[in-house]
Amino acid sequence: MTVARPIQIAPSMMCADLWRLPQILAELESIPVDLLHFDLMDAHYVPNMPMGLGVIEALRSHTGIPFDAHLMVQNNDFFVDKLAHLGVQQVSVHAESATHLDRTLALIRGASMSAGVALNPATPLCWLDFVIEHLDFVLVMTVNPGFAGQKLVPAAMRKIAGCRDYLAERGIDVPIQVDGNVSFQHIPAMVAAGASSLVCGTSSLFHPDGSLAENAARTRASIAEGLALRSRREDT
Ligand code: DX5
Ligand code: ZN
Repeated sequence: MTVARPIQIAPSMMCADLWRLPQILAELESIPVDLLHFDLMDAHYVPNMPMGLGVIEALRSHTGIPFDAHLMVQNNDFFVDKLAHLGVQQVSVHAESATHLDRTLALIRGASMSAGVALNPATPLCWLDFVIEHLDFVLVMTVNPGFAGQKLVPAAMRKIAGCRDYLAERGIDVPIQVDGNVSFQHIPAMVAAGASSLVCGTSSLFHPDGSLAENAARTRASIAEGLALRSRREDT
């Protein structure tokens, strides 16, 4: 029997009110959350640039929460080196953005960080075939990356369960992170399908209708619903 992995909550920091960052950081620590997810974009791989290395540098010494950098850039290796020096714990790169994906993943691990491959909604799981030995986690995108507040791409939901099966068939036990419209409504199905790390942005933890504490309670309730759904499915 496999032991269920606890579900990680990873707030999407680009969705936080940057004006109130110190206070938000303190609130996130008290919730508590598992990872701080930083979306790093270069306005080339995706048409946006909400935050840069400076934000990571400013926050790193003020919290013990592990940092998770999601690279949506063309020059991955430049950022890997910078992130290692800033004290980031895990880094994901988009499969299509790396010319030599295996080498970039090895570079991340070589700098003592966990390495993940991010798959866009239309990117098939077979992109993982020849880098599987370099993987510490998989990031399944449920929106096309670049912007918060987008609608979920329905086909990407199928990929979460597909990814769980793909990894199980190969005997690889690594977390599946899900990013994009991770809403109170979608979390149960995502968790039931095998998600073990949730990037929570404006659709849940930073939802404009609630406080962080209220949104965290709703997020946890949605996770519990997903875990119950998962165990019911496993029993049948
Ligand atoms: C999308 C980003 C996500 C996103 C999550 O490119 O990687 O982190 O901002 O936020 P919502 O919940 O608004 O989709
Ligand atoms: Zn992200």
